[in-house]
Amino acid sequence: MNRSIAGEFSKLRGEPPLKYLAKANQMEAEGHDMIRFEIGQPDFDTPAVVKNEAKKALDEGFTHYVPTDGIPELKEAIQEDIEKTRGFKPDLDQIMVLPGAKPGLFFGIMATVQQGDEVIYQNPFYFTYDSMIGFLGAKKNQISLFEQDEFRMTPDQVQEKMSDETKLILLNSPQNPTGGVLNKNDVKAIAELAEEHNAYVLSDEIYSKMLYDGQTHYSPAYLDECKERTMIVDGFSKAYSMTGWRLGYIVAPKEIIHKIDLLFADVGSCTTSFVQKGGVSALHHGQSFVDSIMAKFAERRKAIVTGLNEVPGFSCIYPKGAFYVFPNISKTGMKSEALANYIIEEAKVCLLPGTAFGSQGEGFLRLSYASSLESIHEGIKRLKKAMEKVI
Ligand SMILES: Cc1ncc(COP(=O)(O)O)c(C=O)c1O
Repeated sequence: MNRSIAGEFSKLRGEPPLKYLAKANQMEAEGHDMIRFEIGQPDFDTPAVVKNEAKKALDEGFTHYVPTDGIPELKEAIQEDIEKTRGFKPDLDQIMVLPGAKPGLFFGIMATVQQGDEVIYQNPFYFTYDSMIGFLGAKKNQISLFEQDEFRMTPDQVQEKMSDETKLILLNSPQNPTGGVLNKNDVKAIAELAEEHNAYVLSDEIYSKMLYDGQTHYSPAYLDECKERTMIVDGFSKAYSMTGWRLGYIVAPKEIIHKIDLLFADVGSCTTSFVQKGGVSALHHGQSFVDSIMAKFAERRKAIVTGLNEVPGFSCIYPKGAFYVFPNISKTGMKSEALANYIIEEAKVCLLPGTAFGSQGEGFLRLSYASSLESIHEGIKRLKKAMEKVI
């Protein structure tokens, strides 16, 4: 199998929606006052307890190589957190610390899927999945998400797509880009289907601490405790506002962790030492921070959903998790990409067309509400004005 990136790499991978970000940056540089709804990162500072712990580690000279799979202190904190949030305690050799959730996704897919194997995942999707699956030459078997199902991938849809060819099911709940959340019955039924067909499950749970209205997160790992087929990918970027720290992890069967450990020893040696100390502090002392940002996100969610429903031609359901909304724009009669471009130019509001996340995003836009209430109100005002001109 050819996994070289020397040749056809750009044809194998997807194209992330970076051109919109670049356009907004350029317009900002030209002096336009842009409202930014395209960026998927919390706008809060990292909690002080986390920064202090990392600073202390630096001052104490904790600046050398550490074990490839992560420092024991962080692995133990992750073990405790998994027990608290998913209801089972993985062994330490089922846990591997990595520089972000993305490497967890990449290594998890890489360790289980070969060229020609089939992978089931959602459309619209987080573009990294599509890109990685394409890069590995695996077969893409996409499940369409529908607004009337609140953008949940239903067990019936999974059952219809499953075959003996299916090697891996990718789950993402809460989901980027729609904010859709799988309920307990969905998760249970999908985990059972995977077991029946002997497929792996990679569950991207990066937004699992970001749920609204008192919901609980359910992981498919309840069935095998990540001992046979389930892999959980999670990290610190979103819930602890640590995107630039690059810290995440994967929990998986031991033999998979062993393979990832060998590969990561070759390509990365280890995850940055003092950053991991910050991660320990986030897991031990970060809950009040998570609670406080979720209270803010809940307010913003209400403001943006209410506002979008007042924009001519738009309708928007409440997302159940994460910090994205996926308004339906089909009544405008415009295509997603044309509308996103019009809005950027006319309203100076940067957002993404639903199609940046796959064909099923046609008829939708994606906005991140990781920005202040003032920006949300101003953005909505501009959107209304721009849409009144064309509707
Ligand atoms: C669904 C999903 N998974 C993973 C990531 C990447 O997380 P990290 O910054 O930890 O690599 C993101 C970031 O946008 C995401 O939306």
